[in-house]
Amino acid sequence: MTSSENIKSTADMTLLKRGFGDVELPDIPDVPGMIKREEGQYLYWLGSNLYTGRGAAIEIGTWLGKSTLHLAAGLSSNRLANKLVCYDHFQWAGGANWSSKAKSPRTLEAGDDFMQDFLDNVADYSDLIDARRSKIENIEFDADNIELLILDAPKRAADIFAVMNGVADKVIPGHTIIAWQDFLHPASFEIPAVLADMAAFQTPAHIVDDGTMVGFQVEKRWTAADVTKAALGFRNWSLEECSVAWESWRSIVPTAAWPSFQSGLSMLLHDNGMIDEACRLLETIIDDKLCKARWQKWRKTSIPARYPRLFEAKFVDRTA
Ligand SMILES: C[S@@+](CC[C@H](N)C(=O)[O-])C[C@H]1O[C@@H](n2cnc3c(N)ncnc32)[C@H](O)[C@@H]1O
Repeated sequence: MTSSENIKSTADMTLLKRGFGDVELPDIPDVPGMIKREEGQYLYWLGSNLYTGRGAAIEIGTWLGKSTLHLAAGLSSNRLANKLVCYDHFQWAGGANWSSKAKSPRTLEAGDDFMQDFLDNVADYSDLIDARRSKIENIEFDADNIELLILDAPKRAADIFAVMNGVADKVIPGHTIIAWQDFLHPASFEIPAVLADMAAFQTPAHIVDDGTMVGFQVEKRWTAADVTKAALGFRNWSLEECSVAWESWRSIVPTAAWPSFQSGLSMLLHDNGMIDEACRLLETIIDDKLCKARWQKWRKTSIPARYPRLFEAKFVDRTA
């Protein structure tokens, strides 16, 4: 891939690089993971092509190490000695037993400590990885500068707020990349909501074609007051403010993902008490194939309890 390939200018945003599916990967250990192949390619590209060592490379939310391995493989290929600092609370959340596919399979129960499983999985790159156990709100960022920040744990405003505050005086304007996994995942709508209010500070730079990860470049440093406004503001947005915020992302969201991305807006409207408006919006997007599939899948999660009106039979077939 050449540096000019796929670079597009969008209506309001800075230059974007879209699509990382042709990034060639070396042999990377196959461990369980929640990221898609192209997201792994993007992470590898960040480590191998973009990282210069001017600041720390930090990942928050490693799970069993798939994203970590792609980043570490990238860093190792550019021969910089800097370690990738990895934070996670390493507490098993329960659900499917993904660990059965791990290198050292064992059954994990909700609440189990999986730090050793992570360390076993990333052992090939152990000299490049500095794993630290911490809850998001307790992370103490000790690097002077941060060049790469890969986020796959903070999805809700309080956690986003904690991370943005922690790194505020460490990001490098015009240089730091913050990769937000799940930016395009509708149930993580608090990420695009907060970032809409931080548009002056970080702007989209990289978008994967197949996945939900978006990389933002830091444009200028923010203060604690800026983050407070961004983290709290969207809860009081009017219908117009919610719509304007979502519309501001239209030019970067892949066209096929736009209806599904708007599902997040319907959840935000519902949260903000505009339930009829949320239903009306859902009515206009629910026939989109990707959108419908998502809502059907959510029937078996905790989402219907939070958004009962959006799960009425006219939108989501409860018998399918
Ligand atoms: C979506 S998974 C990460 C997936 C991983 N990046 C991959 O490639 O498969 C989210 C991770 O964040 C961690 N996490 C969630 N909430 C957290 C919190 N409050 N503090 C620290 N870690 C947390 C979980 O333990 C989990 O490992």
